[in-house]
Amino acid sequence: MNILIVGSGGREHALAWKLAQSPRVSKIFCAPGNGGTARLGENVPLAADNISGLVEFAKTRKIGLTVVGPDDALALGLVDAFDAAGLKIFGPTASAARLESSKSFAKDFMNRHGIPTARAREFTDSASACEWCRTSKFPLVIKADGLALGKGVVIAMTVAEAEHAVRQCLDEEAFGEAGRRIVIEEFLEGVECSIHALVDGASYLLFPDCRDHKRACDGDKGPNTGGMGTISPSGSLDECLRAQVKREILDRFIAGLKKDGIEYRGMLFPGLMLTADGPKVLEFNCRWGDPETQVLVRRLGSDLLDLLEATVEGTLSTATPEWREAAATCVILASGGYPGSYEKGKIITGIASAETLPDVVVFHAGTKDAGETLQTNGGRVLGVTALGDHLPEARQKAYEAADRIAFEGLQRRNDIGPAGNS
Ligand code: AMP
Ligand code: GLY
Repeated sequence: MNILIVGSGGREHALAWKLAQSPRVSKIFCAPGNGGTARLGENVPLAADNISGLVEFAKTRKIGLTVVGPDDALALGLVDAFDAAGLKIFGPTASAARLESSKSFAKDFMNRHGIPTARAREFTDSASACEWCRTSKFPLVIKADGLALGKGVVIAMTVAEAEHAVRQCLDEEAFGEAGRRIVIEEFLEGVECSIHALVDGASYLLFPDCRDHKRACDGDKGPNTGGMGTISPSGSLDECLRAQVKREILDRFIAGLKKDGIEYRGMLFPGLMLTADGPKVLEFNCRWGDPETQVLVRRLGSDLLDLLEATVEGTLSTATPEWREAAATCVILASGGYPGSYEKGKIITGIASAETLPDVVVFHAGTKDAGETLQTNGGRVLGVTALGDHLPEARQKAYEAADRIAFEGLQRRNDIGPAGNS
């Protein structure tokens, strides 16, 4: 079967890497892809939002399954267009993906169906929003309603900070259309954890849990990024909490879809806060996480194509994936300056040497081939992943590999996952 993967990040390289191991996959195309996907298959110069171009390509190249990476392609209706053309595609439709593309829609859904989440109110005018902030308990969390590249959330410690965030969104339109509506919610205390579950409309399949490290610098300091590294398992979700997540979040999610008549097929990736009152949903993502996917595919022992097809065909309840007992760590190597401005076109060395180490795979994100060299082409450049018997071992192997890779301005965190012998 020919596969088309839409997107150009580390997530897409990780999906391509895993799918390439399936005996049923003949060729992998990636649109637009990166330097890593070019090594596994063929990159196609079509952007993820070029819906008609992608439909046409899938028809002419006889693509058996298309897999969508990025949220904006989902929100634009890529899946709807493929469905209308009778082409098989993995991902939710635009209306189902509103669970990610509108935080107020997601909040209403959670409240209607009893899914635990932070108490919140939504606003479209800054005067009433500021009024509300002045009478609220701090910290307060202010969120742009729409997709804002992970930058639309502000944790305000004071009234002044809250009012500034409100005005930036509603009056100064810092996030354009995405910030015309805001959600203001209570601050939840606890430990964060990411979960992924395939959803085929009627049932779900919960994956092992992970933890992302969103801040740019060690010790969770510095600005928020798309994610500077991940571990799986997170070390915080024991069997009892996992059962609670299934009962209170995923079972209710499926029941809610039915009640509301929403057809959801694809990956559901809720960000959770594990609070003293139990797990609560911070946000729904309607796609695979990046760099969560990098650690998940390393732990998946069985064929990913089987799972994706079962999701699209509605047969997930009979799927039997195998997971490796091993722990996985992914360390992101980013361009200097990320998540702010950064330069591109720096020559990358050492990947081949890093990959000679046991249990190491280097996933590409912002890379491109330029003549004989591989060069940086984005903020997050590489995701160095390693498996180990436990998290400290996976961490040690990932950093040993990462130490062999160089490019000018390379920036990384040095504290992804627990160290020591635990
Ligand atoms: P979101 O995009 O909604 O997941 O928010 C991005 C990050 O902001 C999360 O990963 C959390 O670290 C933080 N955050 C969001 N909502 C809350 C909340 N209600 N309480 C505490 N932290 C939050
Ligand atoms: N790593 C966070 C995300 O993919 O949203």
